[in-house]
Amino acid sequence: MNPRRPARRGRLPLSLRRSPVTWERQRPTWREARPAVIAQALKRAQARPSGNWFVVGATRDIRADRPLARTVAGQEIVVWRDATGRLVAGPGACPHLGAPLRDSPVRCGTLVCHWHGLALRGAPFAGWEPLPAYDDGVLVWVRLDDVGGEPPLEAPVVPARPALARAVTAVYVGVGACEPEDVVANRLDPWHGAWFHPYSFVDLTVVDTPGTTGKAPARAEGAEGSEGEEGGEAATAQEDGFVVDVSFRVAGRLVVPVRAVFTAPEPRTVVMHITEGEGRSSVVETHATPLGADDRGRPRTAVVEAVVAASDRRGFAVARGMSPLLRPLVRAAAGRLWRDDLAYAERRWQLRSTGRFPG
Ligand code: FES
Ligand SMILES: [Fe+2]
Repeated sequence: MNPRRPARRGRLPLSLRRSPVTWERQRPTWREARPAVIAQALKRAQARPSGNWFVVGATRDIRADRPLARTVAGQEIVVWRDATGRLVAGPGACPHLGAPLRDSPVRCGTLVCHWHGLALRGAPFAGWEPLPAYDDGVLVWVRLDDVGGEPPLEAPVVPARPALARAVTAVYVGVGACEPEDVVANRLDPWHGAWFHPYSFVDLTVVDTPGTTGKAPARAEGAEGSEGEEGGEAATAQEDGFVVDVSFRVAGRLVVPVRAVFTAPEPRTVVMHITEGEGRSSVVETHATPLGADDRGRPRTAVVEAVVAASDRRGFAVARGMSPLLRPLVRAAAGRLWRDDLAYAERRWQLRSTGRFPG
């Protein structure tokens, strides 16, 4: 069912922009970037179930000697692995006199409170109750039913990814003064790419938007396991996508052109699937986790972005390091872009919270 362009496999995917358009002469996108289209996509995302799961960090950040600590919606959480390697999570205050367990060491899978030695092995103890935790191989999730307020799900809605064994993963974490919906709304506005991030993206065209063209919905093809395994809701999210043709800048006029599909499988996640071009089947997942208010009363939100980069080019071997052609994708997803995108999200929140948001 997935119509694919002729295989590009084996061909050099780099292009040279022949007559580059300067930043100010590129086509304005504001007429197409209709606030209502973005708002409706956001609303549909928010209506999908999350099962009360929240991303708290990267799997590789779980260390043997200390817990991973995160505050989610004002609740301190600690996550570690027990003696069997199982992921355990629970409140970050010691049940004895409230010591911050984030500063306590883990010894042989036991979290030992550094104030008076209370030992937590992951089971309920002295009033401390564990929380459901989930390791998807790249990210760690915790279920907080009182925060989410939805019917709980057994497992989080994990986006379809390329096989991890042949992928390169990277996780970026940033924090902004905004709510999760501001982060999600930023990712559901693909039109800002070449204007706002000209150092990473050029020649951006949004070729399909959900619910506006009357065409068959675009599928996020190329992601293994994305078909036939997921239920109706997830399949709907897969089809409700923005399809974008864009080039990642490598250096000067050298670019890597790709087609990307943006979907929101659950209220706090936006996924970009590369469906054509170098890195086909790679995904960039943006997860927004509410942290709680800062000392000025502003909401704070963590952006946890996972890149799972794959390549079907012959010779791609993780052991030999990341393909240089995938680097633009990984870089594009990381620090510099999020400095700008968090400014966008924070600006959106400022305007919303003061009744000045035009959308
Ligand atoms: S506060 Fe943790 S053991 Fe006393
Ligand atoms: Fe952006």
